[in-house]
Amino acid sequence: MPDPARRETLLPFALPDLDELELREIKSVLDSGWITTGSATKAFESEFAAAVHAKHAIAVNSCTAALHLALEALGLQKGDEVITTPYTFAATAEVIRYLDARPVFVDVEEGSLNIDPALVERAVTEKTRAILPVHIAGLSADLDGLQAVARKYGFPVVEDAAHAFPATYKGKMIGGLSDVTCFSFYATKTITTAEGGMICTDNDRWAERCRIMSLHGISKDAWKRYSAEGSWYYEIIAPGYKYNMTDIAAAMGRVQLRKASFMRSKRARIAARFSELLADVPEVQLPPGGVDGEHAWHLYMLRLHLDRLTIDRKRFIEELKSRNISASVHFIPLHCHPYYRDTFGHAPGDFPVAYREYMREVSLPIYSTMTDRDVDDVIAAVRDIVRLHRT
Ligand SMILES: Cc1ncc(COP(=O)(O)O)c(C=O)c1O
Repeated sequence: MPDPARRETLLPFALPDLDELELREIKSVLDSGWITTGSATKAFESEFAAAVHAKHAIAVNSCTAALHLALEALGLQKGDEVITTPYTFAATAEVIRYLDARPVFVDVEEGSLNIDPALVERAVTEKTRAILPVHIAGLSADLDGLQAVARKYGFPVVEDAAHAFPATYKGKMIGGLSDVTCFSFYATKTITTAEGGMICTDNDRWAERCRIMSLHGISKDAWKRYSAEGSWYYEIIAPGYKYNMTDIAAAMGRVQLRKASFMRSKRARIAARFSELLADVPEVQLPPGGVDGEHAWHLYMLRLHLDRLTIDRKRFIEELKSRNISASVHFIPLHCHPYYRDTFGHAPGDFPVAYREYMREVSLPIYSTMTDRDVDDVIAAVRDIVRLHRT
């Protein structure tokens, strides 16, 4: 007899939502003969800027590149400090290190897992140049709280919004709220160009600098130099990077952008169903929904009450896998990784909330191509594991 708590085939952790529409748009770019940065990228930039109500949007080949360019444009230098969260992916802090500056970690709030504004001010020193919050899972950080500190000391807020498109904070789109906001279009993200990112800002000077540095530091609109309106002449004003987005990626991004709201509503429905049908399971803690805004639901981050279970988190994930459900962990706090531990002398207990919550976190699959059956399979598996392993 088939086991109702074990599906037949493996449910992947994440899948992109792509169809004929993306194929058609990519084909028209291929047919045009212009496949790297060009008119599709420009169109994607203006459509994205309009979507988040930002004056400028600069498309690049990753969110990591976007964050690097943003910090470079602010003038971050060797020895400077950037206040950020340890509860994030490698990219958030490595870009600070690219510029020989120091990531100053501040612990997170227990509920949202976002940087705790109450602790940020205590980390400010005369070397602080920016605050770099992350909207974990797609739930906005407390931007009012962070901006209050930033304004008081006169430094900018640069948002790592890799998880947060489309998402809102107090009714406004993430992307038009802080000095600079960076998005990711990596394969598993809420909209994808396979690899890609976007820098959004209202600041003309920073936008110009990011644009120039994204393409070797050569004079603006260098991408036009092979087109009819372009010229062979250019000037290098700084040793820049090779971070530009291709028109093939932008073609995909333009279609994904049009589908973003629909895909978000599907993920929100999945999250609502998980939360409704796991609400009576006291062994798990459900993620918070949007209080101050709309959640992008990039991740559904469950937390285990390990004291109510006879198994640990590792075994819980193995049990999910044995029922053909993929799961993941977000995130191993940066201060626990050898590089940050050894370079800055961190110990796990330096940021106790981040460490404690990481130890009991399990991310369930949540993406717009999941069927109702897939969602119910995840719920059945979680309930079954808890039933068999509660204390
Ligand atoms: C919080 C966070 N920031 C930045 C990034 C980097 O994004 P990308 O892969 O587009 O460089 C990621 C990617 O997973 C992320 O999760």
